[in-house]
Amino acid sequence: MRVLVLGAGGREHALLWRLSMSPLVAKLWCAPGNAGTAEIAENLPIKADDVEALAAFAVEHGVDLVVPGAEASLVAGIADRLAARGIRCCGPSAAAARLEGSKTFTKEIAAEAAIPTAAWESFDDPAAARAYLRRQGAPIVIKADGLAAGKGVVVAASLAEAEAAITDFMEKGTLGGAGARLVIEECLVGEEVSLFALCDGETAIFLGAAQDHKRVGDGDKGPNTGGMGAYSPPPVLSADLQNAAMARIVRPALAALARRGTPFRGILFAGLMLTRDGPKLIEFNVRFGDPECQVLLPRLHSDLLPALLAACDGDLAGVDLRWREEAAITVVLAARGYPAKPVAGGEIRGLEAAGAVPGVRIFHAGTARAADGRLIAAGGRVLSVTATANTLRAARDAAYQAIARLDFADGFCRSDIGWRALAGSG
Ligand code: AMP
Ligand code: GLY
Repeated sequence: MRVLVLGAGGREHALLWRLSMSPLVAKLWCAPGNAGTAEIAENLPIKADDVEALAAFAVEHGVDLVVPGAEASLVAGIADRLAARGIRCCGPSAAAARLEGSKTFTKEIAAEAAIPTAAWESFDDPAAARAYLRRQGAPIVIKADGLAAGKGVVVAASLAEAEAAITDFMEKGTLGGAGARLVIEECLVGEEVSLFALCDGETAIFLGAAQDHKRVGDGDKGPNTGGMGAYSPPPVLSADLQNAAMARIVRPALAALARRGTPFRGILFAGLMLTRDGPKLIEFNVRFGDPECQVLLPRLHSDLLPALLAACDGDLAGVDLRWREEAAITVVLAARGYPAKPVAGGEIRGLEAAGAVPGVRIFHAGTARAADGRLIAAGGRVLSVTATANTLRAARDAAYQAIARLDFADGFCRSDIGWRALAGSG
């Protein structure tokens, strides 16, 4: 099998690492990739959302399977373009990718399929949005309808904060077109969990769950980021809650999309709030999470490739994924200044020593090779230092031991990844 992975982050390095273990793999490419993916795949100088160039490459080089890491290429229709050329893509059509591309669409699917979610309304008019806001009161959540790279959600503690978000998104256009329409919704209370399912249009199988840390600073303080660390499995997600989420949230969404004639194939990421009334849907994404992927795949015992192919071919009903009885954690090393203005070019040394800590595996994100071969930072999130062990605490200790061996003067990480889960285990 000749496989092309799209993206350049820790998620894509982890995907390639897991795929490289499959006896079915003959060739791996990554577009555009990073310094880590270059060690196990051939990097291509094509942007991950340049769907025309990617499809042309796939045809010319006999690619059997394309695995998009991020959502951009899916929303832009890579799966449709590849399908038209008879090439498998483990990701949804543009029509089904609207689950991530439009919050209003997700809410309509939730309503149609009776999926538990926050009470909501959608607005194209700021005056109507403000009137609704005043009727509902605070706290309340304001969401830009379109893709906004993690900047489109404001959990407002006060009406003033909520009004400011409406002004910014709808009137000042701070998010461009993504904020022209808003979803305003009830503020849910509970612990958040990311749950993943592999889908073939009709069947969904559980693909692991994780909790991530979105804020940049210790104690979950400071601005939102793409994610500063994650761990799996989440102790708060009991088997009962997991089954409830699959039965009441994932499977009804899949059925609703199939009924509409736009079946969902690929990886469905359900962002859940575990409320007093059970799991509720916060959002869907149409891909693996980053850094969640980096803690799911090291725990997967089964070969990933046959499962991805079965998802493409409508064959998932017979697939039974096996997991290791281990905990995994990943700590993101970011470049100083992230998320606002990450410093590029800082040298990183000590990867070999860090990777030698038992149970540790380092996935690259924003890394590149300088002309003289030195490893340098080339993005906000730079490395994803991952460890597996029998307990979450042991995995956490191993990850931080590895980080202590790294020499990255221009980098930083959070020192408390996993705190919520570890606080409960003494
Ligand atoms: P989203 O992009 O929809 O995942 O939202 C980003 C973050 O905002 C989520 O991870 C939650 O922490 C928070 N959030 C979103 N919707 C709600 C809600 N209805 N209630 C409470 N927090 C929310
Ligand atoms: N870590 C959250 C995401 O990938 O969207």
